[in-house]
Amino acid sequence: MTGSGVKAGSGLFVVMGVSGCGKTTVAQGLANHFGYPFQEGDDLHPAANVAKMHSGIPLNDADRAPWLQICHEWLRMHVETGGVLTCSALKRKYRDTLRNGLDITFVYLETSEKTIAERLKLRIGHFMPPSLLPSQLATLEPPGKDENVITVDSAGTPDIVMAKLLASLKSRAV
Ligand SMILES: Nc1ncnc2c1ncn2[C@@H]1O[C@H](COP(=O)(O)OP(=O)(O)O)[C@@H](O)[C@H]1O
Ligand SMILES: [Mg+2]
Repeated sequence: MTGSGVKAGSGLFVVMGVSGCGKTTVAQGLANHFGYPFQEGDDLHPAANVAKMHSGIPLNDADRAPWLQICHEWLRMHVETGGVLTCSALKRKYRDTLRNGLDITFVYLETSEKTIAERLKLRIGHFMPPSLLPSQLATLEPPGKDENVITVDSAGTPDIVMAKLLASLKSRAV
């Protein structure tokens, strides 16, 4: 699917939503499609945050601040090339830290609790235990229309979700 020539905004994307909504899957598809570098936001966490999450303890905003700043730096380093970052980005203030003056397109994967719970149960060896799902859903502040967001219903197979996203991008590009 590479090279359709459809580009949106600056070429900087953050794929967001609660754990299990399909961020990694969609972000890799998007990065492949445009030939952009891909970065897993979860891999930018300081070690102390990973340890906390392994223990099933939700991070607080003080824990998240340095992580979000590192995510922002990654985006800033990819202004010229474009890039796709996964980041749950549940609160508007987190997204403000990610943006901080950059022109970012957020891809918000909207999904139901049932779908996420089923997907998380199938996923093995990931640091985010399903017990954190309720706190994620309680924290989620869906992005506003003023946030340069593309909202995609994450129901369906990965191919279907990607097709929905690319169709939305195409309709914005014209
Ligand atoms: N559209 C989809 N349909 C079915 N399963 C999916 C879909 N997207 C992702 N998955 C699976 O669901 C789990 C969570 O997806 P993932 O992309 O890792 O989500 P996230 O990065 O948001 O936590 C993975 O096991 C993945 O293979
Ligand atoms: Mg992921």
